[in-house]
Amino acid sequence: ALDRLDRALGLIASIPDYPEPGVVFRDLTPLFADADAFVATVDALIEPFQGRFDAVAGLEARGFLLAGAIAVRAGSGLVPIRKQGKLPRATESQSYELEYGSATIEAHRGDLDPGCRVLLVDDVLATGGTLGAAVRVADRLEWDVVGAAVVLELDALGGRDVVGGIAPALDIRSLRHV
Ligand code: PRP
Ligand code: MG
Repeated sequence: ALDRLDRALGLIASIPDYPEPGVVFRDLTPLFADADAFVATVDALIEPFQGRFDAVAGLEARGFLLAGAIAVRAGSGLVPIRKQGKLPRATESQSYELEYGSATIEAHRGDLDPGCRVLLVDDVLATGGTLGAAVRVADRLEWDVVGAAVVLELDALGGRDVVGGIAPALDIRSLRHV
């Protein structure tokens, strides 16, 4: 199973100087395109949290691709945490800093009941801005966040510490550190 996961993670492409000079873009589309790699990755994301979550919350946009597969495979519900302005009913929202400017993400109130056990999912943990904002939204919605699962963690960017400053007890699992 580890060989399978290793091969899957080996399909992630690194593109230098995209979208701007000095940035190495981590592209998971070759992994998603490979049937065996996709299922191996999804199962590895679920494994530490198996049986402990009622819903998976996917972070727009790349987290959505993983969240739908996780939900079906694990037999859980799914909630989208969206970029601002896409959800039609009342939401809780949180802004976070990007390299230039800021962004806001939000989730519906009422899609999940307070106390619902939720797994947060995204493709990459980089500076931690996105996941940190998601944790704040989840907290305001009174979700019981059981952890966060990401495929790739970019250690040098310190996202784990940023998120840890917001939620010290959060169990963050990354399939690969680079
Ligand atoms: C990327 C990636 C993560 C986030 C990680 O998403 O998919 O969600 O950045 O970076 P951070 O830890 O520094 O916040 P992006 O905002 O590019 O949008 P997308 O998923 O909609 O493509
Ligand atoms: Mg993203």
